[in-house]
Amino acid sequence: MTKNINILAIESSCDETAVAIYNNENGLLSHALHSQIPLHQAYGGVVPELASRDHLAKIIPLIQQSLFEANINLNNIDIFAYTQGPGLAGALLVGASTANSMAFALNKPILGIHHLEGHILSPLLDTSSTLEFPFLCLLVSGGNTQLIWVQDVNEYEILGETLDDSAGEAFDKTAKLLGMPYPGGPQVSKIAHQGEDIYNFPRPMQHSNCLDFSFAGLKTAVLTQVKRMGGAENLTEQNKADICASFVEATTDVLSFKCMKAMRMIKESKKLKLNAELNLVVCGGVSANLQLREKLNIICAKHKYQIYYPPLKWCTDNAAMIALAADLKIKKNPELLKNFANGNFDVLPRMKLHS
Ligand code: KG4
Repeated sequence: MTKNINILAIESSCDETAVAIYNNENGLLSHALHSQIPLHQAYGGVVPELASRDHLAKIIPLIQQSLFEANINLNNIDIFAYTQGPGLAGALLVGASTANSMAFALNKPILGIHHLEGHILSPLLDTSSTLEFPFLCLLVSGGNTQLIWVQDVNEYEILGETLDDSAGEAFDKTAKLLGMPYPGGPQVSKIAHQGEDIYNFPRPMQHSNCLDFSFAGLKTAVLTQVKRMGGAENLTEQNKADICASFVEATTDVLSFKCMKAMRMIKESKKLKLNAELNLVVCGGVSANLQLREKLNIICAKHKYQIYYPPLKWCTDNAAMIALAADLKIKKNPELLKNFANGNFDVLPRMKLHS
């Protein structure tokens, strides 16, 4: 790949509009982000129609802001990248059509990036990270909970995933049940610090041999407990804190347990070279959860596994991870730049993570 290449990347898969400008030698030059959380809070979740309209209103000012902060203009952009999927169709289309219009007008290459590939590679946004391939990735976000064996860029094997709700959804639904605003993950996590694990919520699928997850039963157990106590309006602040603490303990137990099971299985398989270090990456919005980090840090230290997270600001959706993924994919396969289809694009709301 030629030197000193500038990539402009757009993320618009759900409720964050983000633009990053990234240089293939110097790293991130600028990042501009607008969160739609206040817009959706009144509805207790993301309203797709409102999300698309808001992306449309914010995308051009964010592009202007990121160019200004990087101190370059659009003619200095060599490659465009955008989140192609998975996500909300209308929201994805805003980022995809904006990126494709710019690439078409300037006759520059463009790449559609898998949103989860951005999350998987996001720890490498930390320029001091010592993370190397291969690694096991626990991807815990609002839309996904997956265990992925990452042999290299473009080489992904899904070892397990949730059969129903994602871990992030379970956090958000628990928060909603307790009358807390969307998105509930950070709130539940914060309040849990004041409570105790006294309800012993279920740790589903611990005894099976598979690496899949299920969080729907845990969510129902919280609902049943709240009903048993006379509904959310009858709960004291301490009751809520204890429910949050019990929920966080159960969720983080299941996530850590499955990670360790996967690490053991990888060790026993032929996936890893003899005596090679076993690395764990934890990414996606829920990886910002401090209780999860604390638990996994202790267990990994005990087993002598290396553990890596994205810097906190890159845990939730952003465009820096999309730009980084584009850069790494091009470095791995420069041919990608020759085969771009300018003016011919699509979004994939249910895009699969392929090897
Ligand atoms: O990765 P992300 O921004 O969006 C998706 O790609 O899905 O993740 C959003 C999810 C939400 O469910 C939010 O409640 C959760 O991440 N989250 C947290 C924390 N911060 C965000 N969950 C638990 N603890 C946190 N500190």
